[in-house]
Amino acid sequence: MKITNEIFYVGVNDHAIDLFEGQYKVPGGMAYNSYLIHDEKIAVMDSVEAHYGEEWLSNIQKVLGDRQPDYLIVQHMEPDHSANIVTFMENYPGAILVSSDKAFAMIKQFYHNEFSDRRVVIKDGDTLSLGKHVLTFVGAPMVHWPEVMVTYDAYDRVLFSADAFGKFGALDVDEPWEDEARRYYIGIVGKYGVQVQKLLARAKTLDIAMICPLHGPVLSEDLGKYISLYDVWSRYDVESEGIVIAYTSVYGNTKKAVQLLEQKLRNAGAAVTVHDLARCDKAVAVADAFRYGKLVLATTTYNADIFPFMREFIHELTERGYQNRTVGIIENGSWAPTAAKKIKAMLEGSKNLTILDPVVSLRSAMNEQSEEQLDALVAELVK
Ligand code: FEO
Repeated sequence: MKITNEIFYVGVNDHAIDLFEGQYKVPGGMAYNSYLIHDEKIAVMDSVEAHYGEEWLSNIQKVLGDRQPDYLIVQHMEPDHSANIVTFMENYPGAILVSSDKAFAMIKQFYHNEFSDRRVVIKDGDTLSLGKHVLTFVGAPMVHWPEVMVTYDAYDRVLFSADAFGKFGALDVDEPWEDEARRYYIGIVGKYGVQVQKLLARAKTLDIAMICPLHGPVLSEDLGKYISLYDVWSRYDVESEGIVIAYTSVYGNTKKAVQLLEQKLRNAGAAVTVHDLARCDKAVAVADAFRYGKLVLATTTYNADIFPFMREFIHELTERGYQNRTVGIIENGSWAPTAAKKIKAMLEGSKNLTILDPVVSLRSAMNEQSEEQLDALVAELVK
């Protein structure tokens, strides 16, 4: 597949995978993107996941015919991209490996080979000339690992963006970019907003016509839309107006409170999204909590703590830097409700959160008093 006259797509689709990175459901599969720049010198950008080495080499060979690649450029060492480095280097004994010193240390850790006599170590700002295409390497530490470099080709005005601007889903699956890109970004890179902001600031200095990420489609139109979403996500700003209710319920009483809350909020004209944390795709619930500005956490007290799915969910939020949001709480407890206190303690370190009053406190089931609290919470949420 031609990306430009001299840049070719040589990546692969994976429909056999069930969990990406061992945890993210990917019903639409994954794409492990790799690109080939065909100039006086030939460079391949990144390898692919372990099971797809043969298909990848075959894609490269189809483009090259009898020619041999001169360079394999490794932007990111996570195994979904690095697993076939050794296969490539064995298949093309004349090729040189180009990567950062941090990446070479990881190549040794993962694959027990440093390629010390066949390598070029690059750092931020270094360039590599292939002929017309002069590549500039830009350090992008923690987007998403510390060794990450992205690469700018001034000739075709292409940014090879590593994991940034990627999404879940194979390339032969037709689906809107935003939802799976958000779930991917928040889940995988969400903790590193500051570092993404630094990369976006560098990207602003470049004239970019096309973004070639390591997952998901090549982005060539309306780049402002994608860059602006990345800006919102990495600043932890609110993307959409609305309220997310995330809940757990053991015998259905907390669920009834949630259903009543949902109905009252809808009646008040609010946009509401509800997630049952024991059953939903947690990664979608986490992404939604970051997408919207308001979140209600409804859960039972359990072993004098919070019900496990809710505890895990809040941890997933706080470890990704959850901030700048409004949070309402519904707790339930038959003899000693403590969930609200525990939730507040878990959120204590999060920046710029407004915890709404009142907490809705259920003793086993809704009653007149808790419904009054619920009405007061609705009033706060729709203010
Ligand atoms: Fe797609 Fe961080 O690897």
